[in-house]
Amino acid sequence: MGNSFKDLNKAKANKNDEFYTRLPDIELEMKHYKDHFKDKIIFCNCDDPYESNFFKYFSMNFKYLGLKKLIATCYGTSPIVYTQLNIFGEEEVISTVREGKKAYKIEITEVEDLNEDGAIDLTDVKQLLRSKKNVLTMLEGDGDFRSEECIELLKECDIVVTNPPFSLFSAFITTVTQYEKDFIIIGNTNSLKYKEVFPLIRADKARTGYTNFNKGMFFEIPDHYETYHHIENGKKFARVASSCWITTLPVSKHTEFVSLYKKYSPDNYIKYDNYDAIDVSTYTDIPYDYDGIMGVPTTFLDKLNPEQFELLGYGGGDFAKELGIRKNHRGRTDLAYTIDGQPKCPYARILIRNKMI
Ligand SMILES: C[S@@+](CC[C@H](N)C(=O)[O-])C[C@H]1O[C@@H](n2cnc3c(N)ncnc32)[C@H](O)[C@@H]1O
Repeated sequence: MGNSFKDLNKAKANKNDEFYTRLPDIELEMKHYKDHFKDKIIFCNCDDPYESNFFKYFSMNFKYLGLKKLIATCYGTSPIVYTQLNIFGEEEVISTVREGKKAYKIEITEVEDLNEDGAIDLTDVKQLLRSKKNVLTMLEGDGDFRSEECIELLKECDIVVTNPPFSLFSAFITTVTQYEKDFIIIGNTNSLKYKEVFPLIRADKARTGYTNFNKGMFFEIPDHYETYHHIENGKKFARVASSCWITTLPVSKHTEFVSLYKKYSPDNYIKYDNYDAIDVSTYTDIPYDYDGIMGVPTTFLDKLNPEQFELLGYGGGDFAKELGIRKNHRGRTDLAYTIDGQPKCPYARILIRNKMI
Protein backbone atom coordinates (compact mmCIF):
# COMPACT_ATOMS: atom_id res chain seq x y z
CA MET A 1 0.00 0.00 0.00
CA GLY A 2 1.25 3.47 -0.79
CA ASN A 3 0.95 6.67 1.15
CA SER A 4 -2.27 8.63 1.28
CA PHE A 5 -2.61 12.15 -0.05
CA LYS A 6 -3.19 14.53 2.80
CA ASP A 7 -4.57 17.17 0.55
CA LEU A 8 -4.52 18.51 -2.93
CA ASN A 9 -1.71 20.92 -2.10
CA LYS A 10 0.64 18.06 -2.84
CA ALA A 11 -1.02 17.67 -6.20
CA LYS A 12 -0.52 21.36 -6.76
CA ALA A 13 3.12 21.17 -5.80
CA ASN A 14 3.75 18.07 -7.89
CA LYS A 15 1.49 19.18 -10.73
CA ASN A 16 -0.16 15.79 -10.38
CA ASP A 17 -3.42 16.91 -11.89
CA GLU A 18 -4.69 13.56 -13.13
CA PHE A 19 -7.12 12.78 -10.34
CA TYR A 20 -10.20 11.16 -11.80
CA THR A 21 -13.49 11.52 -9.99
CA ARG A 22 -15.41 8.34 -9.21
CA LEU A 23 -18.94 7.93 -10.53
CA PRO A 24 -20.55 7.28 -7.08
CA ASP A 25 -19.13 10.58 -5.78
CA ILE A 26 -20.53 12.44 -8.79
CA GLU A 27 -23.94 10.78 -8.41
CA LEU A 28 -24.03 11.54 -4.70
CA GLU A 29 -23.62 15.26 -5.34
CA MET A 30 -25.46 15.70 -8.64
CA LYS A 31 -28.70 14.08 -7.49
CA HIS A 32 -29.46 17.26 -5.53
CA TYR A 33 -29.42 19.57 -8.54
CA LYS A 34 -31.85 17.75 -10.84
CA ASP A 35 -34.26 20.69 -11.04
CA HIS A 36 -31.41 23.01 -12.02
CA PHE A 37 -30.27 20.85 -14.92
CA LYS A 38 -33.53 20.86 -16.87
CA ASP A 39 -33.20 22.52 -20.32
CA LYS A 40 -29.63 23.53 -19.49
CA ILE A 41 -26.36 23.25 -21.39
CA ILE A 42 -23.78 21.46 -19.26
CA PHE A 43 -20.11 21.96 -20.04
CA CYS A 44 -17.45 19.63 -18.66
CA ASN A 45 -14.37 21.58 -19.73
CA CYS A 46 -11.60 19.51 -18.16
CA ASP A 47 -13.00 16.19 -19.20
CA ASP A 48 -11.86 13.74 -21.79
CA PRO A 49 -15.20 12.10 -22.53
CA TYR A 50 -13.49 8.73 -22.83
CA GLU A 51 -12.10 9.00 -19.35
CA SER A 52 -14.42 11.26 -17.40
CA ASN A 53 -17.18 10.01 -15.16
CA PHE A 54 -18.73 13.49 -15.37
CA PHE A 55 -19.30 12.88 -19.07
CA LYS A 56 -20.51 9.38 -18.29
CA TYR A 57 -22.96 10.64 -15.66
CA PHE A 58 -24.48 13.38 -17.82
CA SER A 59 -24.65 11.32 -21.01
CA MET A 60 -26.30 8.39 -19.23
CA ASN A 61 -28.77 10.71 -17.51
CA PHE A 62 -29.22 13.08 -20.44
CA LYS A 63 -32.91 12.33 -20.90
CA TYR A 64 -33.72 11.83 -17.23
CA LEU A 65 -32.29 15.24 -16.38
CA GLY A 66 -33.93 16.86 -19.42
CA LEU A 67 -30.65 18.39 -20.59
CA LYS A 68 -30.59 20.65 -23.60
CA LYS A 69 -26.99 19.88 -24.46
CA LEU A 70 -23.88 18.26 -23.04
CA ILE A 71 -20.43 19.49 -24.07
CA ALA A 72 -17.15 17.95 -22.98
CA THR A 73 -13.70 19.05 -24.04
CA CYS A 74 -10.56 17.02 -23.69
CA TYR A 75 -7.21 18.58 -22.90
CA GLY A 76 -4.84 17.38 -25.60
CA THR A 77 -1.73 17.26 -23.54
CA SER A 78 -3.22 15.11 -20.81
CA PRO A 79 -0.40 12.66 -20.11
CA ILE A 80 -2.69 9.66 -20.05
CA VAL A 81 -4.97 10.52 -22.91
CA TYR A 82 -6.17 7.27 -24.55
CA THR A 83 -3.78 5.20 -22.59
CA GLN A 84 -5.28 4.00 -19.35
CA LEU A 85 -8.66 5.03 -18.11
CA ASN A 86 -11.66 4.31 -20.22
CA ILE A 87 -15.19 4.75 -18.95
CA PHE A 88 -16.51 2.52 -21.70
CA GLY A 89 -14.64 -0.38 -20.14
CA GLU A 90 -13.01 -1.48 -23.38
CA GLU A 91 -10.66 -0.16 -26.01
CA GLU A 92 -12.89 2.17 -27.99
CA VAL A 93 -11.14 3.18 -31.18
CA ILE A 94 -12.06 6.49 -32.71
CA SER A 95 -9.56 6.60 -35.52
CA THR A 96 -9.99 10.29 -36.34
CA VAL A 97 -9.00 11.14 -32.80
CA ARG A 98 -6.08 8.79 -32.50
CA GLU A 99 -4.56 9.67 -35.83
CA GLY A 100 -5.04 13.40 -35.66
CA LYS A 101 -4.52 15.98 -32.97
CA LYS A 102 -5.54 14.84 -29.53
CA ALA A 103 -7.79 17.61 -28.28
CA TYR A 104 -11.42 17.27 -29.25
CA LYS A 105 -14.91 18.05 -28.10
CA ILE A 106 -18.10 16.10 -27.89
CA GLU A 107 -21.46 17.85 -28.13
CA ILE A 108 -24.59 15.87 -27.50
CA THR A 109 -28.10 17.19 -27.96
CA GLU A 110 -29.98 13.92 -27.62
CA VAL A 111 -29.41 10.43 -26.33
CA GLU A 112 -31.98 7.96 -27.63
CA ASP A 113 -32.44 4.27 -27.00
CA LEU A 114 -30.49 3.53 -30.18
CA ASN A 115 -30.05 -0.18 -29.55
CA GLU A 116 -33.74 -0.48 -28.59
CA ASP A 117 -33.07 -2.47 -25.44
CA GLY A 118 -35.58 -0.45 -23.45
CA ALA A 119 -32.94 1.51 -21.52
CA ILE A 120 -30.81 4.51 -22.23
CA ASP A 121 -27.29 3.76 -21.13
CA LEU A 122 -23.66 3.96 -22.11
CA THR A 123 -24.11 1.51 -25.01
CA ASP A 124 -26.45 4.05 -26.59
CA VAL A 125 -23.89 6.81 -26.06
CA LYS A 126 -21.25 4.62 -27.67
CA GLN A 127 -23.51 3.94 -30.62
CA LEU A 128 -24.25 7.64 -30.91
CA LEU A 129 -20.53 8.46 -31.05
CA ARG A 130 -20.01 5.83 -33.73
CA SER A 131 -23.01 6.67 -35.89
CA LYS A 132 -23.23 10.46 -35.73
CA LYS A 133 -20.03 11.90 -37.06
CA ASN A 134 -20.73 15.49 -36.02
CA VAL A 135 -20.97 14.59 -32.32
CA LEU A 136 -17.20 14.34 -31.94
CA THR A 137 -15.07 17.04 -33.56
CA MET A 138 -11.44 18.01 -33.30
CA LEU A 139 -10.37 21.22 -31.60
CA GLU A 140 -7.92 23.58 -33.25
CA GLY A 141 -5.89 24.10 -30.08
CA ASP A 142 -5.00 21.92 -27.13
CA GLY A 143 -8.36 22.14 -25.32
CA ASP A 144 -7.09 24.41 -22.54
CA PHE A 145 -10.19 25.71 -20.72
CA ARG A 146 -8.84 29.24 -21.32
CA SER A 147 -8.38 28.79 -25.08
CA GLU A 148 -10.51 30.84 -27.44
CA GLU A 149 -12.58 27.92 -28.68
CA CYS A 150 -13.21 26.61 -25.16
CA ILE A 151 -14.22 30.12 -24.07
CA GLU A 152 -16.77 30.17 -26.93
CA LEU A 153 -18.22 26.93 -25.54
CA LEU A 154 -18.13 28.40 -22.05
CA LYS A 155 -20.14 31.38 -23.23
CA GLU A 156 -22.72 29.05 -24.75
CA CYS A 157 -23.18 26.88 -21.66
CA ASP A 158 -25.30 27.40 -18.54
CA ILE A 159 -23.48 25.30 -15.94
CA VAL A 160 -19.86 24.15 -15.76
CA VAL A 161 -19.49 20.84 -13.96
CA THR A 162 -16.07 19.28 -13.48
CA ASN A 163 -13.11 18.54 -11.29
CA PRO A 164 -10.57 21.04 -12.65
CA PRO A 165 -6.79 20.62 -12.40
CA PHE A 166 -5.89 21.75 -8.92
CA SER A 167 -2.69 23.43 -10.07
CA LEU A 168 -4.89 25.79 -12.14
CA PHE A 169 -7.75 26.15 -9.65
CA SER A 170 -7.52 29.94 -9.27
CA ALA A 171 -7.30 30.48 -13.03
CA PHE A 172 -10.24 28.13 -13.49
CA ILE A 173 -12.49 30.01 -11.05
CA THR A 174 -11.45 33.33 -12.57
CA THR A 175 -12.35 32.12 -16.07
CA VAL A 176 -15.72 30.68 -15.13
CA THR A 177 -16.79 33.66 -13.00
CA GLN A 178 -15.61 36.14 -15.63
CA TYR A 179 -18.37 34.79 -17.87
CA GLU A 180 -20.79 34.64 -14.94
CA LYS A 181 -21.44 30.95 -15.36
CA ASP A 182 -22.92 28.71 -12.73
CA PHE A 183 -20.62 25.92 -11.66
CA ILE A 184 -20.45 22.76 -9.61
CA ILE A 185 -16.80 21.86 -9.20
CA ILE A 186 -14.47 19.96 -6.93
CA GLY A 187 -11.96 22.01 -4.97
CA ASN A 188 -10.62 21.62 -1.48
CA THR A 189 -11.16 23.26 1.85
CA ASN A 190 -7.94 25.22 1.42
CA SER A 191 -9.16 26.74 -1.85
CA LEU A 192 -12.17 28.25 -0.03
CA LYS A 193 -9.90 30.97 1.30
CA TYR A 194 -8.37 31.83 -2.08
CA LYS A 195 -8.87 35.42 -3.13
CA GLU A 196 -10.84 34.17 -6.17
CA VAL A 197 -13.19 32.02 -4.05
CA PHE A 198 -13.70 33.55 -0.61
CA PRO A 199 -15.34 36.79 -1.86
CA LEU A 200 -17.88 34.67 -3.78
CA ILE A 201 -18.81 32.83 -0.59
CA ARG A 202 -18.93 36.04 1.43
CA ALA A 203 -21.26 37.58 -1.15
CA ASP A 204 -23.43 34.42 -1.06
CA LYS A 205 -22.69 33.80 -4.73
CA ALA A 206 -21.06 30.42 -4.05
CA ARG A 207 -21.10 27.85 -1.28
CA THR A 208 -19.99 24.33 -0.45
CA GLY A 209 -21.99 21.51 -1.98
CA TYR A 210 -24.04 18.74 -0.39
CA THR A 211 -21.33 16.15 0.22
CA ASN A 212 -19.96 16.67 3.70
CA PHE A 213 -16.43 17.92 3.22
CA ASN A 214 -14.98 16.20 6.24
CA LYS A 215 -15.34 12.87 4.49
CA GLY A 216 -12.62 13.26 1.89
CA MET A 217 -12.83 11.61 -1.50
CA PHE A 218 -10.99 8.89 -3.37
CA PHE A 219 -9.79 9.57 -6.91
CA GLU A 220 -8.54 7.17 -9.54
CA ILE A 221 -4.99 8.06 -10.56
CA PRO A 222 -2.73 6.93 -13.39
CA ASP A 223 -0.50 3.88 -13.01
CA HIS A 224 2.69 5.91 -12.98
CA TYR A 225 1.74 7.92 -9.85
CA GLU A 226 3.82 6.60 -7.00
CA THR A 227 1.76 8.02 -4.15
CA TYR A 228 -1.56 6.27 -3.70
CA HIS A 229 -3.86 4.96 -0.99
CA HIS A 230 -4.94 1.59 -2.33
CA ILE A 231 -5.31 -0.51 -5.47
CA GLU A 232 -8.73 -1.81 -6.48
CA ASN A 233 -9.26 -4.04 -9.52
CA GLY A 234 -5.79 -3.12 -10.69
CA LYS A 235 -6.49 0.62 -10.47
CA LYS A 236 -4.72 3.02 -8.16
CA PHE A 237 -6.73 5.32 -5.91
CA ALA A 238 -5.57 8.32 -3.88
CA ARG A 239 -7.51 9.81 -0.99
CA VAL A 240 -7.80 13.56 -0.76
CA ALA A 241 -9.01 14.31 2.75
CA SER A 242 -9.81 17.96 2.07
CA SER A 243 -11.87 17.62 -1.12
CA CYS A 244 -15.11 19.53 -1.30
CA TRP A 245 -17.68 20.58 -3.83
CA ILE A 246 -18.15 24.27 -4.52
CA THR A 247 -21.13 25.61 -6.39
CA THR A 248 -23.02 28.74 -7.33
CA LEU A 249 -26.31 26.81 -7.28
CA PRO A 250 -28.54 26.83 -4.19
CA VAL A 251 -27.69 24.17 -1.59
CA SER A 252 -30.44 23.56 0.93
CA LYS A 253 -28.15 22.87 3.91
CA HIS A 254 -27.06 26.50 3.72
CA THR A 255 -30.63 27.60 4.44
CA GLU A 256 -30.86 25.52 7.62
CA PHE A 257 -30.50 27.40 10.88
CA VAL A 258 -27.69 26.21 13.12
CA SER A 259 -29.01 25.52 16.65
CA LEU A 260 -27.13 27.46 19.30
CA TYR A 261 -27.20 26.39 22.94
CA LYS A 262 -24.43 28.23 24.77
CA LYS A 263 -24.87 31.46 26.70
CA TYR A 264 -22.07 33.98 26.33
CA SER A 265 -19.86 34.64 29.31
CA PRO A 266 -16.52 36.51 29.09
CA ASP A 267 -14.98 33.76 31.26
CA ASN A 268 -15.70 31.08 28.70
CA TYR A 269 -14.66 32.81 25.51
CA ILE A 270 -11.20 34.25 24.92
CA LYS A 271 -10.77 37.54 23.05
CA TYR A 272 -8.14 38.02 20.37
CA ASP A 273 -5.17 40.25 21.19
CA ASN A 274 -5.15 41.92 17.80
CA TYR A 275 -8.84 42.15 16.86
CA ASP A 276 -12.10 42.89 18.64
CA ALA A 277 -13.68 39.44 18.44
CA ILE A 278 -14.04 36.29 20.52
CA ASP A 279 -12.61 32.92 19.58
CA VAL A 280 -15.04 29.99 19.29
CA SER A 281 -13.04 26.83 18.72
CA THR A 282 -15.98 24.59 17.77
CA TYR A 283 -19.09 25.82 16.00
CA THR A 284 -21.32 24.04 18.53
CA ASP A 285 -19.98 26.53 21.10
CA ILE A 286 -21.21 29.60 19.20
CA PRO A 287 -23.15 31.55 21.86
CA TYR A 288 -26.75 32.40 20.99
CA ASP A 289 -26.60 35.82 22.63
CA TYR A 290 -23.30 37.33 21.45
CA ASP A 291 -23.79 40.19 19.02
CA GLY A 292 -20.12 40.94 18.32
CA ILE A 293 -17.68 39.34 15.90
CA MET A 294 -16.68 35.71 16.42
CA GLY A 295 -13.81 33.70 14.97
CA VAL A 296 -14.81 30.12 14.11
CA PRO A 297 -12.99 27.30 12.28
CA THR A 298 -13.14 27.50 8.47
CA THR A 299 -15.02 24.17 8.45
CA PHE A 300 -18.04 26.23 9.52
CA LEU A 301 -18.27 27.40 5.90
CA ASP A 302 -19.89 24.03 5.24
CA LYS A 303 -22.74 24.93 7.60
CA LEU A 304 -22.96 28.66 7.04
CA ASN A 305 -26.49 29.98 6.56
CA PRO A 306 -26.11 33.57 5.25
CA GLU A 307 -29.52 34.47 6.69
CA GLN A 308 -28.32 33.59 10.16
CA PHE A 309 -24.69 34.71 10.00
CA GLU A 310 -22.86 37.47 8.21
CA LEU A 311 -19.51 36.29 6.91
CA LEU A 312 -17.12 39.18 7.47
CA GLY A 313 -13.83 37.76 6.36
CA TYR A 314 -10.98 35.39 6.83
CA GLY A 315 -8.63 35.78 9.79
CA GLY A 316 -5.35 35.71 7.91
CA GLY A 317 -3.38 37.05 4.94
CA ASP A 318 -4.79 39.88 2.84
CA PHE A 319 -8.32 39.34 4.15
CA ALA A 320 -7.07 40.04 7.67
CA LYS A 321 -5.63 43.35 6.50
CA GLU A 322 -8.98 44.19 4.93
CA LEU A 323 -10.65 43.65 8.32
CA GLY A 324 -8.09 45.73 10.18
CA ILE A 325 -6.58 42.84 12.16
CA ARG A 326 -3.41 44.23 13.74
CA LYS A 327 -0.01 42.55 13.59
CA ASN A 328 0.45 39.79 16.17
CA HIS A 329 3.47 38.74 18.26
CA ARG A 330 4.99 37.27 15.11
CA GLY A 331 4.52 40.49 13.16
CA ARG A 332 1.77 38.85 11.08
CA THR A 333 -1.89 39.65 10.70
CA ASP A 334 -3.13 36.20 11.75
CA LEU A 335 -5.49 36.25 14.71
CA ALA A 336 -3.77 35.69 18.05
CA TYR A 337 -4.76 35.31 21.72
CA THR A 338 -2.87 34.85 24.94
CA ILE A 339 -3.23 31.71 27.07
CA ASP A 340 -1.32 31.42 30.38
CA GLY A 341 0.80 34.38 29.35
CA GLN A 342 1.76 32.73 26.07
CA PRO A 343 0.66 34.32 22.75
CA LYS A 344 -0.82 31.77 20.37
CA CYS A 345 -2.50 31.68 16.97
CA PRO A 346 -5.55 29.47 16.50
CA TYR A 347 -5.77 27.37 13.34
CA ALA A 348 -7.50 29.07 10.36
CA ARG A 349 -10.54 31.10 11.41
CA ILE A 350 -13.32 32.85 9.55
CA LEU A 351 -15.02 35.82 11.17
CA ILE A 352 -18.79 35.86 11.50
CA ARG A 353 -21.53 37.83 13.22
CA ASN A 354 -24.95 36.55 14.28
CA LYS A 355 -27.54 38.47 12.23
CA MET A 356 -30.46 37.28 14.34
CA ILE A 357 -29.58 39.29 17.46
C1 LIG B 1 -8.28 16.58 -11.58
S1 LIG B 1 -8.32 15.98 -13.24
C2 LIG B 1 -10.01 15.62 -13.38
C3 LIG B 1 -10.44 15.00 -14.64
C4 LIG B 1 -11.96 14.88 -14.77
N1 LIG B 1 -12.55 16.19 -14.76
C5 LIG B 1 -12.49 14.07 -13.62
O1 LIG B 1 -13.03 14.65 -12.69
O2 LIG B 1 -12.36 12.84 -13.64
C6 LIG B 1 -8.10 17.47 -14.14
C7 LIG B 1 -8.06 17.28 -15.63
O3 LIG B 1 -7.84 18.55 -16.25
C8 LIG B 1 -6.95 18.39 -17.34
N2 LIG B 1 -6.26 19.65 -17.56
C9 LIG B 1 -5.05 20.04 -17.12
N3 LIG B 1 -4.79 21.30 -17.54
C10 LIG B 1 -5.87 21.68 -18.27
C11 LIG B 1 -6.18 22.86 -18.98
N4 LIG B 1 -5.33 23.88 -19.01
N5 LIG B 1 -7.37 22.94 -19.62
C12 LIG B 1 -8.24 21.89 -19.57
N6 LIG B 1 -8.00 20.75 -18.91
C13 LIG B 1 -6.82 20.65 -18.27
C14 LIG B 1 -6.01 17.30 -16.87
O4 LIG B 1 -5.41 16.65 -17.99
C15 LIG B 1 -6.94 16.38 -16.09
O5 LIG B 1 -7.47 15.39 -16.91
